This record gives sequence, C-alpha cells and structure tokens, in this order.
Amino acid sequence: MRFNIITSVVATLAVAADAKPLAKFQRGPLRHVVHEEVPAVHSKWQKDHRMHYTATLPVKIGLAQQNLHRAEEFIYDVANPNSPNYGRHWSPAEVIEMFKPKRESVNAIMEWLESEGIHPSRVKLSVTKNWITFNATVREMEQMLKTEYHVYKHETQNNTHHVACEKYHVPDYVAEHVDIITPTVHFDKSLGHERTNKHKKVSNEATKELKRSNGRRQDSTKAIVGSPLDGSNPKQGQHIDNAMMDLSQCDTMITPDCLRALYNMPKGTLANASNALGIVEYTPQAFLQTDLDLYFDQFTPDIPQKTPQILLLADGVVQTQNQSFNFNGESALDLEFAMALISPQKASVYQVGDLVQGASFNNFLDGIDASYCSFKGGDSKDPNMDGQYSASVECGIATATNVISTSYGSNEADLGAKYERRQCDEYMKLALQGVTVLYSSGDSGVAGNGGVCLSADGQSFTDGTSGKFNPSFPGGCPWVTSVGATQLSKGTTVNDAETACQEVIFSGGGFSNVFAIPSYQKKAVSTFMTDHAPPYGADRFNNSGKVRAFPDVSANGANYVTAVDGQFSLSFGTSASAPVFASMINMINEERLQAGKSPVGFINEALYANPQVMNDITNGTNPGCGTVGFSAVKGWDPLTGLGTPNYAKMKKLFMTLP
Ligand SMILES: *[C@@H]1O[C@H](CO)[C@@H](O)[C@H](O)[C@H]1NC(C)=O
Ligand SMILES: *[C@@H]1O[C@H](CO)[C@@H](O)[C@H](O)[C@H]1NC(C)=O
Ligand SMILES: *[C@@H]1O[C@H](CO)[C@@H](O)[C@H](O)[C@H]1NC(C)=O
Ligand SMILES: *[C@@H]1O[C@H](CO)[C@@H](O)[C@H](O)[C@H]1NC(C)=O
Ligand SMILES: *[C@@H]1O[C@H](CO)[C@@H](O)[C@H](O)[C@H]1NC(C)=O
Ligand SMILES: *[C@@H]1O[C@H](CO)[C@@H](O)[C@H](O)[C@H]1NC(C)=O
Repeated sequence: MRFNIITSVVATLAVAADAKPLAKFQRGPLRHVVHEEVPAVHSKWQKDHRMHYTATLPVKIGLAQQNLHRAEEFIYDVANPNSPNYGRHWSPAEVIEMFKPKRESVNAIMEWLESEGIHPSRVKLSVTKNWITFNATVREMEQMLKTEYHVYKHETQNNTHHVACEKYHVPDYVAEHVDIITPTVHFDKSLGHERTNKHKKVSNEATKELKRSNGRRQDSTKAIVGSPLDGSNPKQGQHIDNAMMDLSQCDTMITPDCLRALYNMPKGTLANASNALGIVEYTPQAFLQTDLDLYFDQFTPDIPQKTPQILLLADGVVQTQNQSFNFNGESALDLEFAMALISPQKASVYQVGDLVQGASFNNFLDGIDASYCSFKGGDSKDPNMDGQYSASVECGIATATNVISTSYGSNEADLGAKYERRQCDEYMKLALQGVTVLYSSGDSGVAGNGGVCLSADGQSFTDGTSGKFNPSFPGGCPWVTSVGATQLSKGTTVNDAETACQEVIFSGGGFSNVFAIPSYQKKAVSTFMTDHAPPYGADRFNNSGKVRAFPDVSANGANYVTAVDGQFSLSFGTSASAPVFASMINMINEERLQAGKSPVGFINEALYANPQVMNDITNGTNPGCGTVGFSAVKGWDPLTGLGTPNYAKMKKLFMTLP
C-alpha cells in the first residue's frame, strides 16, 4: 500500500486507492499529515448522517501565497501617515502579482490531484491564481483526504445542513503548498441564521412619556418596556413626531441628529457616483423597503434615495417571507442610520447567500474581491503556470465599495486558525487596494457570541460564568477596523462623555488567540498593559502583549430608534456602531475624492498615530466569563478602543494627508 493511513476509519478506502494512476514522480512512500481539524469547541452542529459517496462536492484548494510575511511593511507603506506613499493604493493586478502562489505550489498540487485520479482537464485555476477549484465526488475526496464526509444539522435550526469532515490529510510534500481545502472542517455557514438581536420595543405611551419626562432617568427607564407590542398596529411609527429629535433625549433614544451632535458631524452634502457605502447582510437577514420608508419619513424626509443599491452574492436573496425582528432587525438598523447619515450619498447592500445554504464570510470575499473582477490580464495561459491549466471565469461579481461595514461575527474559536488567517490575508489585500473594512466587535463583553467562554484548555465552551475570554472574528484580524459600542449614561446629554455600553449589551473586546499584534497598536496596547494592568492572568486571556487586541474604535450602540416590521423599536449592539463609524469614513472619502485624493483605505495606522482625533472613553466595563471584564481607561482599552470619533477632527486629519 502506498499510503500510510492515519485514521483507521478510512482504512477500507485504501483498497480503492491502489487502482489510482501513478504519480508523475515517485517520491518513495507518501506520508500523509493531518492538515486541519474541526476546532474542538464547535458545538452547535451535530453529525446527522454519512454523505452518499456519489454526491458531488465543489472543492476549492487555497494555495499558499508568497510574500504574506511582508504584509505589515506593505500596509505601512500605503496607510501610515509618515509614509511618503500614503494613499497610493495597489491595483488589483499588483496585488495578484505580489501574492500569487509559487509555480512549484501549483505544480505540487496538480501532481497530487492527478495521482488521485483528478485529471487536469477537470481543474480550474482562479484568475487570482490562489485557488484551485474542481468538482469531485464524496468518494474521490474521502480517498484523497483520508477522511469521511458527514451531513451535520444545526442544534437549533433543524433545516440548516452543513457538509463537513472532522479532519483531513494531505501528503507531506503537499502540505506546505496548501492553506486550506473546502468544504472540509469549517463550520462557517449560515451566519445569518444565528442572529439574536437585542432590542426593546418603544410603545406610543413610552414615547409620549419620554417626551413628558424630558428624558429624565427614572421616568424613561420605566417607560421603555420589554413587552412586545401588537405587530399589526401600523400607527406605531406615526406617533413619534419631530419632538423625538429633541437632543435632550439622546440618552434614551438615539436618532441621526443625536449621532451628529455626539460626533461633531455635519449633514452629508456630497454624493460622488463612485463612492457608495457598502453594508453586508447575510440571508435570511433582510431589510423591508416599507421599514426604510417609515424610518426616512420620520427622520430624513429629504433623502433623495430611499432604496439602497442591492448586490446579490452567492445566490443572495432579499427575502420577505419571514418577517420579525430576528429577520429584519439587523438590516434595518444597519441601513436606516447609515443611509440617513451619508445622504445624499447612497448605500449598497451586499446581500450574501440563499435561503437554503446561507453563506459564509468566504462567499462574501469571493464575491467582492476587487482583483477577481477587475483584473483583465487575460493570461489564462500564463506561461508561469505551464499553460496547461485553464483559468476559471470565476471572478468576483461585484466590485468592493471604498468602505465596507459588516455587523456579523463569529467566535474566533469556531473556525480554525488556518481558515481565519486565509481570510485575514484577503482583508489585507483589500486594505492595500484602498478599501476600509469594518466589523462590529461583538455584544457579549469578554465572552463570545451567545455569552459563552472557553475552557482552560481552550477545547470546549463553558456556560459563560467562568473560563477563558472568547474573542471574536474577524475583529481580531489586524487588517480590519473593529468597532465597539458606547452609550450615553441615563441622565447625561450629547455634551457629556459617553461610557462603554452596559445597557442590554456589553461591548465586545479582548485579545486574539490567533493573530499577532500589528505594529500600529503596539504602543497603545503596551501602555494599557503597563499603566492599567488588568487583574487577570494568562488563564483568562493571552496577556503576553504580543497578540492583536480589539476593538480599535467605538461608537454609540444603545437605544437606536429603528423602524422594524412596521413599528419603531430600540436596537442595541455593536451592530449599530460599525455602520455608523463606516458612515463617517464614507463622508471623509467624499471630501477626499472631491479634493482629488484617494479614499482613506485602511485607517488603523492613521488613527493609532493620532488618538487626539477620537473622544477617549474612560468609564465602564465589558463583563463576561464571571468577571467584570476590562475597564475603559485613559488611552486605548479593549472595550472602546481609541474611543469614539470626533468627525471634524478626524476629517481634518485625513484631509491633511496626501
Ligand atoms: C462544478 O459543477 C457546477 C455545476 O455543474 C458548475 O457550474 C461548475 O462550473 C463546476 N466547477 C468546476 C470547477 O468545474
Ligand atoms: C429538531 O429535531 C429534533 C428531533 O427531530 C426535535 O426534537 C426538535 O424539536 C427539533 N427542533 C426544532 C427547533 O425544530
Ligand atoms: C420562513 O418561512 C417559511 C414559510 O413560512 C417557513 O417554512 C420557514 O421555516 C421559515 N424559516 C425560518 C428560519 O423560520
Ligand atoms: C500568547 O501569544 C504569544 C504570541 O503569539 C504566544 O507565543 C503564546 O504562546 C501565547 N500564550 C498562550 C498562553 O497561548
Ligand atoms: C469622484 O471620485 C472619482 C474617483 O473615484 C474622482 O476621480 C472624481 O474626481 C470625483 N468627482 C467629484 C465630483 O468629486
Ligand atoms: C459610568 O458608567 C456607569 C455604569 O454604566 C454609569 O452608571 C455611570 O453613570 C457612568 N458615569 C458617567 C460619568 O457617565
């Protein structure tokens, strides 16, 4: 037998392996190594049944890329204010050229595939040269990867299926050339199914009561009740009149005017046709046009365009069959505030995934990667690639907007380090091309999604009353901007300092277990660890000072007056904070474009170097895992980052840059 079978469960498959064509080059006995395993902590999926061996899998092999170790240097060059090349972003072709896999990587993988009976004529190399794709049967893949495929069902969503294996192997000579293979161990689908938005309904009575009470603390606390209202009452919104825009009530009801006042931000005036704000939604999350209409009638009647541009990715569909806060709350919150703030500029919704499969961050990246689409090299017969593999036409179908905000996230522990690094590399490439990518930091403080934490060995989840802190992803990727949440304490006004959000949600924040600290935040994090050393040891979080810490910045995330399913209710979450911060970056880009400059692109380098353009938040904590979490302190901290934006100062900073 040519294979040193590692898992006994697949030993029977080795019989079939003998019938395969011989490898072009004999390398002595092949040794297979485990390439990836399901993170031990994944818990929401249960194995249902073995997948039928004749089923077809759309296989993607992510090839190891060159020059990734130079990421920091490249990012610094285009994004650090001290760099002479600030704002000189890369073209898609330059990105492809710099990071494309080595020829020997392509060759090693092609040789391996052919030896496994996958003829080169079945295989496509992506235009970006970093993915090899082909269709294969389950039987072929099980043999090739020495594994077994099963269909998994979601614990709480019985109709949500996912195809996966528990671990897979590759020959040792191939391992260094492969980042990841999908579908395998990544439980990354159906992000949209897991939304549990935090919200409170605003009743007519509550609204009137608030107006009467003039926003004073005790009355308003009582007036906003958690009890659901009759959803069939279409008059709900009509009773919130302009008095709601009274800035004295921003501690209990956030409106676009409250945000403008808090962040020193004017109304939008510019609308460059090339500068829409991108907002990502994962099906079945969807907006209802009727909600947007209701909202804009109330808060921005002069908005020129009440419908976002819709870009469907991965068979995306803006579904309207299921309607409740849990289906519409996220999109409503994201779109209503952002569209009001950036008006007359428009927003683009990237609606990712269909109703059956849902979608993953990878589907989104496949859909927008600017280099996929705009690269018109036409070198499908690239001599460097031996000319024998046809390049696929699989290219992104939508271009990336200059700013992209996503209010969805996973636990870093859910997905696997290789998979997360691969995606993070893609965010780095977007950053080089001048795209600002923002992610919400999570709503469970130092705990993860659903309030869970990690066991001491990191191998399982605890119920959230103890254990290690559970950082989020992609907020921990150094090449995105992670946005935490703040709030106005009850009884304070827009002229007072905000505090870390401690109402309904706690701002997500902490330290990555996967990503190393980027240079741009070394000083800020070291000051925090030295001057405000948290009272926890390595049993709670990686306190080495050598890992990526998040969030980077924050913005208000409490009491957003949102029109959802025909009525106004209050929404809470870093889900609100990310698109609001993104809106400000979009507006700054408008100014820069008008001045003949490039979009700002990756903002972290400039912001950490200029913390004075932010309002430092120094009050509040982000509890979780049986602790009070971290504390907001002077300077950067792992719950409010550098603080909330002072738009005018931030704009001035970016306008002075070339
Ligand atoms: C795999 O099969 C699907 C459906 O038949 C097809 O659309 C796709 O192009 C195939 N992919 C490759 C890489 O051949
Ligand atoms: C899922 O299926 C199981 C067993 O078939 C059943 O007991 C459970 O109630 C179902 N859960 C949901 C949310 O449909
Ligand atoms: C959405 O609505 C359809 C049709 O009413 C229903 O069959 C389906 O279960 C719903 N989906 C969810 C996730 O509730
Ligand atoms: C913390 O991160 C550093 C740098 O990545 C790493 O060397 C160290 O092993 C980590 N500590 C723990 C306890 O995981
Ligand atoms: C709009 O943006 C483009 C760059 O995308 C720029 O070339 C053009 O000058 C801008 N137009 C205005 C009116 O600002
Ligand atoms: C600080 O935060 C606490 C807890 O949220 C809050 O009760 C208090 O009012 C805040 N102080 C100020 C000055 O905002």
